[in-house]
Amino acid sequence: MSSEQILKNTNADILDEFNASIMFDKELYTQDIKGSIAHSQMLCEQGILTKEEQLEIENGLFQVKNEIETDQFKFSLEYEDIHMAIENRLTQIIGEPGKKLHTARSRNDQVATDFRLYVQEKTLKIKDQLKELVSTFVEISNKHTTTLIPGMTHLQHAQPLNFGYHLLAYANMFKRDFQRFESSYERNNYCPLGSAALAGTPHDINRGSTSEKLGFTAPTSHAMDTVSDRDFALEILFNISTSMMHVSRIAEELVTWSSYEFQFIRISDEYATTSSIMPQKKNPDVPELLRGKTGRVYGNLISLFTVMKALPLAYNKDTQEDKEGVFDSVKTIEISLKILNEVIKTMIVNNDKMESACKVGHLSATDLADFLVKKKNMPFRTAYYITKDVVEKANSLDKDISELSISEIRESNDEIKDIDEELLMYLDLRNSMNARTSFGGTSTIQTENQLKDFENWLKNN
Ligand code: ARG
Repeated sequence: MSSEQILKNTNADILDEFNASIMFDKELYTQDIKGSIAHSQMLCEQGILTKEEQLEIENGLFQVKNEIETDQFKFSLEYEDIHMAIENRLTQIIGEPGKKLHTARSRNDQVATDFRLYVQEKTLKIKDQLKELVSTFVEISNKHTTTLIPGMTHLQHAQPLNFGYHLLAYANMFKRDFQRFESSYERNNYCPLGSAALAGTPHDINRGSTSEKLGFTAPTSHAMDTVSDRDFALEILFNISTSMMHVSRIAEELVTWSSYEFQFIRISDEYATTSSIMPQKKNPDVPELLRGKTGRVYGNLISLFTVMKALPLAYNKDTQEDKEGVFDSVKTIEISLKILNEVIKTMIVNNDKMESACKVGHLSATDLADFLVKKKNMPFRTAYYITKDVVEKANSLDKDISELSISEIRESNDEIKDIDEELLMYLDLRNSMNARTSFGGTSTIQTENQLKDFENWLKNN
């Protein structure tokens, strides 16, 4: 409804519009029907519904599902939310037995169940997508364990890395995200159904049975807590926010790496766009959007945190505001992970540009200091100042430290006037990268070990 329309409507219409959630919670129709079928089966097992009544309900619910999926279902504000709408349509179709479906349940436990089912299903899907992304990073990383790239701190050249190692940092981030979704899934896999309005029900129900039918680990253990709790929704919002924060970091690198100044990669034409005015341009709109969309998922997280703050027990209508943000964040991450995966897979890596960028900024300066410490038993701070002199010398000759001759190095500072020629080997950029053999370091050997660990992880998860 447009804002003009809303203003023209009667108060009653406006109230319906304000109160209803059907226009967005219709997203939960499959979960609602699944939950209702399980509930009716349990009621039948407990002798609360006859077999005939249960079958009529189940078949009726399938018919409603079919009507929704073939666009024959009328979503109207009259029924407020998807739960009431489905129950009403069911009763129109099958008559009296439809009215018995809501025995021993309330919309409070019903909505908590439907929403939790949705969150759990999406959690598994996002986990799969994260795993696929990790596998893409591993695959590309495998091809670049000897490709040099300048490692940066403060966005200034620091030490040489191999590009595979750099990409594996992202594989680690997305692996942790996968694990975060996994542990949330375990923690939240408990069934609200049967909590009823807030205090349980006098009917002889079997919550274990509905829980099992719906794929939960067990029923939740406190009815009032259950109908008020939206931690599970906050968790998926937090998990999505963290993953999108990681997405935004690689997106930012894709933007800088593809700039004219860097030219480390080219984003494939499919994922680059043109300018409407500057015919020569190829813009990284796709990574920019990946970066930008992170803002909205943070917003959804903060929004639900704020809704939940200081809510008194038990159910309050405020919680109806829990859904749209979650739906939006789920859709945002699903498309973002899919697109990021493709952009990474199809990017063209410019090994030569990365390697020549390593020759700027004295990336192997630390190796000179380390050499003096290791071979000459010098205190690190003394070695640090000597190295500074060598860097100054290189600057005065407009050279990188890795390009200096042994005599140029010896002339830089008296204390190293007889330094062995062997030092030159240590200043070589590739040797510098390969010298970092400590566990978790960048050397090709270490990177290959890390890749092996990832391959095992991918096989076992
Ligand atoms: N549409 C409501 C929601 O999404 C369903 C629960 C309503 N319960 C109630 N007692 N008003 O939260």
